[in-house]
Amino acid sequence: MDIQPRDGAAPGHQSAGPDDPRVQALRAHLRPAIIAMDGPAASGKSTVGYRLAALLDFLFFDTGVMYRAVTWVALARGVDIQDAEAVGRLAETVELDVRPPRAGEEDGRHCTVLADGEDITWQIRAPEVDRQVSVVSAMGRVRRALTVQQRRIGQAYGAGTQEKAGIVMVGRDIGTVVFPQAPLKLYIDASAEERARRRHRELLARGKAVSFEEVLADMVRRDRLDSERDLSPLRTAPDALVIDTTGLTPDQVLERILDLACARLAVNP
Ligand code: CDP
Repeated sequence: MDIQPRDGAAPGHQSAGPDDPRVQALRAHLRPAIIAMDGPAASGKSTVGYRLAALLDFLFFDTGVMYRAVTWVALARGVDIQDAEAVGRLAETVELDVRPPRAGEEDGRHCTVLADGEDITWQIRAPEVDRQVSVVSAMGRVRRALTVQQRRIGQAYGAGTQEKAGIVMVGRDIGTVVFPQAPLKLYIDASAEERARRRHRELLARGKAVSFEEVLADMVRRDRLDSERDLSPLRTAPDALVIDTTGLTPDQVLERILDLACARLAVNP
């Protein structure tokens, strides 16, 4: 199918709102109401996924925080990060809670992440977690434990019977393994340099003194591990809409997603 995206938003252009006919059409047509969004590190999935979810009044659920949380708890509790059984046991027993930020927690976070009741929202973004998370996410026992929880949440929200009309689920294997039946799958990509620039900027803004070269090297290594692992590797689902966000603003990416999604689902806004 030949889908021509509309050009990105012009300067001064109002970004799409909840009344945009494309937004309304998508809400009416997605059954189950699950949007799967996958892609490599720092490709813009969280920024765009969060905004897309807000537009549609869907829940934004970033599954990466679960792998990060297990990694951080393992490091904090001195569990040997190479010991798949010990880390797997931890993933099965630690109580993870991912919920929207409450009053007093608005510090730029998209969600609050709790492990056994402790707020670890920012700890899981530490460079040490970035370095180790792909080892943890390649472990079968860890993936099984977390995938069960992700499917439960996805099924509940995808039915449209919760307080939100649906769910935008973000990760590496959502469209291929967790919800291969999702009616809309997006694969969000960007060049390695652009992704490293974005991640570097984020880390500097949070006061982390890391060099661009270090960030780029860590990210390329993590992408390789995520793409080459045996279990649920990062892959583009055959029916995913692929969006290269290199050089695009979040507004422009959202515009493209709305146009491409309506064309793919053959809905007339
Ligand atoms: O934010 P960023 O794109 O850097 O990464 P993330 O989405 O927070 O994911 C962190 C890590 O968790 C990834 O590098 C993967 O190893 C793992 N992950 C996964 O294996 N499967 C998912 N569905 C989500 C994340």
